[in-house]
Amino acid sequence: MNPVLRREYLTALGLESWVVRGKSAQAAAPRELIAPVETPAARTRAAPPDPLSPQEAARPRDTGVSRGDSTAREAGFDWAELKARVAACTRCALCNTRTQTVFGVGSPTAQWLIVGEAPGADEDRQGEPFVGRAGQLLNSMLRAIGLAREQVYIANVLKCRPPGNRDPAAGEASECLPYLEQQIALLKPKIMLAVGRIASQNLLRTDLTLGRLRRQVHAFGASQVPLVVTYHPAYLLRTPADKRKAWEDLKFAREVCARV
Ligand code: URA
Repeated sequence: MNPVLRREYLTALGLESWVVRGKSAQAAAPRELIAPVETPAARTRAAPPDPLSPQEAARPRDTGVSRGDSTAREAGFDWAELKARVAACTRCALCNTRTQTVFGVGSPTAQWLIVGEAPGADEDRQGEPFVGRAGQLLNSMLRAIGLAREQVYIANVLKCRPPGNRDPAAGEASECLPYLEQQIALLKPKIMLAVGRIASQNLLRTDLTLGRLRRQVHAFGASQVPLVVTYHPAYLLRTPADKRKAWEDLKFAREVCARV
């Protein structure tokens, strides 16, 4: 990417002070975050892996928190059918308080799938994920790694807004996840980026903290889609000091995507 443009995106992320040390952002990244991801073929030729090495940290693997597709309840539906089923969904009580469902948006041939938690007030009103302030920051985060919003697919764990933006209830997430699983089956993304603790924990069926889930490649579902975890843009708006760590995660995810 054009370095001037890139600097502008990093500035929008509030990261301009981090890149002025004369190093390129890639060169400045901690080594373990840019370690090459080994292919399965390369692994069979290599010596037994050192589980604590940076290469192992970056390798897609079963981290013990990957999930299988739950029930494949929505299997077989195409995009239009799935969208209609979501729009008509009454599987949980959120259907009583939503303005509309928020199915997801983006290119059906996207390599990247970004998964957030649930629609907020703006998304509930407009019917599109990540359109509020957090969405603006998400767009900047994507731009910083050379991705336009239109190039990726964006969806949430929940398709309906929880009142008052409370956390999704376990039952709401389990009722809703089959929709996302079918979106993933249709999209066949090269990489998934889970933004925030709630999305990450639901996708990986774990209660490990975000700090424990970052900086490694998880595998989602039967198709073992590489999944990387980072901070939610709404959290980053409240805690700008962690934008630098999010930037590390984004570069890590880009590196993983380039190698799968
Ligand atoms: N936060 C999310 O997790 N998803 C959205 O769509 C908007 C805000």
